[in-house]
Amino acid sequence: MTASFGPSYVRAIAPYVAGKPISEVAREFDLDEKTIVKLASNENPLGMPESAQRAMAQAASELGRYPDANAFELKAALSKRYGVPADWITLGNGSNDILEIAAHAFVEKDQSIVYAQYSFAVYALATQGLGARAIVVPAVGYGHDLGAMLAAITDDTRLIFVANPNNPTGTFIEGAKLEAFLDKVPRNVVVVLDEAYTEYLPQEKRYDSIAWVRRYPNLLVSRTFSKAFGLAGLRVGFAIAQPELTDLLNRLRQPFNVNTLAQAAAIAALNDRAFLEKSAVLNAQGYRRLTEAFDKLGLEYVPSDGNFVLVRVGNDDAAGNRVNLALLKQGVIVRPVGNYGLPQWLRVTIGLPEENEAFVAALEKALATV
Ligand SMILES: Cc1ncc(COP(=O)(O)O)c(C=O)c1O
Repeated sequence: MTASFGPSYVRAIAPYVAGKPISEVAREFDLDEKTIVKLASNENPLGMPESAQRAMAQAASELGRYPDANAFELKAALSKRYGVPADWITLGNGSNDILEIAAHAFVEKDQSIVYAQYSFAVYALATQGLGARAIVVPAVGYGHDLGAMLAAITDDTRLIFVANPNNPTGTFIEGAKLEAFLDKVPRNVVVVLDEAYTEYLPQEKRYDSIAWVRRYPNLLVSRTFSKAFGLAGLRVGFAIAQPELTDLLNRLRQPFNVNTLAQAAAIAALNDRAFLEKSAVLNAQGYRRLTEAFDKLGLEYVPSDGNFVLVRVGNDDAAGNRVNLALLKQGVIVRPVGNYGLPQWLRVTIGLPEENEAFVAALEKALATV
């Protein structure tokens, strides 16, 4: 008899599919790594800010010791920036870590977690990893249907994940709608508001979720240094919530979950307003370029407020993989999203102008040939 290890709910998990690394595509398609364009993981195309590179180089001499487990300086910098006490902040090894810790901290096996169809894959993974029950609420216009999410809450619901903007669809929920939603969520249900892409929002769409954290003891706002701040490889994210919630997160997080280099780089990136501004401007320009190209090609896309766009590349369920393969052969890596139930679509990260051009040219060729 074959032994089957672990709980059945862990065996049922389909592992996270990450963007293909450049080196793998180079090997697989016999391409020169230098010519490959990777627009697959919603990273900042500018790379790491120089300020953060310098801070990291300085911190490198301290690596014989453990990191500051409480990340005093980084929390002080975040506390100053967001106007909350340091004990309202919990750091994560990327915000992915925060999402996982939150699920473990607030939900027991067999209780339920609510999230939207087509929302970030980690919500499903975190739910399944606990043996909790997922209540997946059908999307409307590829975005969250907050009314239906409220209605889906049951007696055993302990957590709701809301991504704003959402990945992989890029959809955005206005602040006023979110606030009305938060008002109605029962106070024993924690809302994790995942704002991984919030720094890309244009001024007129911004809202003050930190003010809501002061008002709603069941709200946890999750942010990351991986996107607009340009530190994806270092793995730093953070949660802002009232101490009743952060106290529980702190009990579960690994003591040294954010390393010394990441802490130093994050402080520098947080204070580098010019880099953040440049990233947002570049992203807005790239968005216009890509969506113009999609319009010209007659391709449907979902209007996005993130640093990526979801585009429909065909009307049959093999279209996403087919066009993806044709792009890979030309050295362009994007993200097929069949695992999200969107097999006709591809998600493309907005790149540098020349990367966007390379993608558009490769897409035109791919559509003409497949
Ligand atoms: C909506 C959303 N939340 C969270 C994350 C996690 O990012 P990280 O763990 O790098 O902070 C991502 C990454 O793609 C995301 O798209």
